Amino acid sequence: MQDYDRNYILLGLSWIVVGMALGIWLGITNQQNYANSHAHVGLLGFVASTLFGLLHWAYPALARSRLALWQFIIYEVGVVILVVGKFLIDGGKETILLPIGALVTIAGAAMMLAMFAKHGHRTA
Ligand code: HEM
Repeated sequence: MQDYDRNYILLGLSWIVVGMALGIWLGITNQQNYANSHAHVGLLGFVASTLFGLLHWAYPALARSRLALWQFIIYEVGVVILVVGKFLIDGGKETILLPIGALVTIAGAAMMLAMFAKHGHRTA
């Protein structure tokens, strides 16, 4: 896949819309128990995805990594699973989705670390 920078930033901006909608919803319905889910949508979804996109933009050599496609998929799928799990837990339900999502998400972050360690150079 090409355009990791653009695709990550598109997803990051999608996450911020979801996070803001969630923030408005929990605010007007006075369900502050969902504040933690909202925070994770904003920070893992919007902030980290957009930062990963900016890293791809600033360090184009990252896209040449064999891990790049899997890192993108694993990180974003992990955040979706984590956020759904957190939302269920904030709503008082029990679920295994949160720890599963956490492990998948941290795997995605660790893959970005490995990619940056190897390919994070400004020169080709
Ligand atoms: C339309 C935009 C937003 C609205 C309406 C909104 C609304 C809220 C509300 C109502 C709370 C709960 C406050 C309380 O516990 O009394 C909250 C908490 C929080 N929000 Fe937002 N928010 C918005 C955007 C964002 C964004 C973009 C981020 C991060 C990038 C963010 C991060 C947080 C964090 C970290 C907390 C604290 C969570 C906690 O205490 O567990 N918010 N927000």
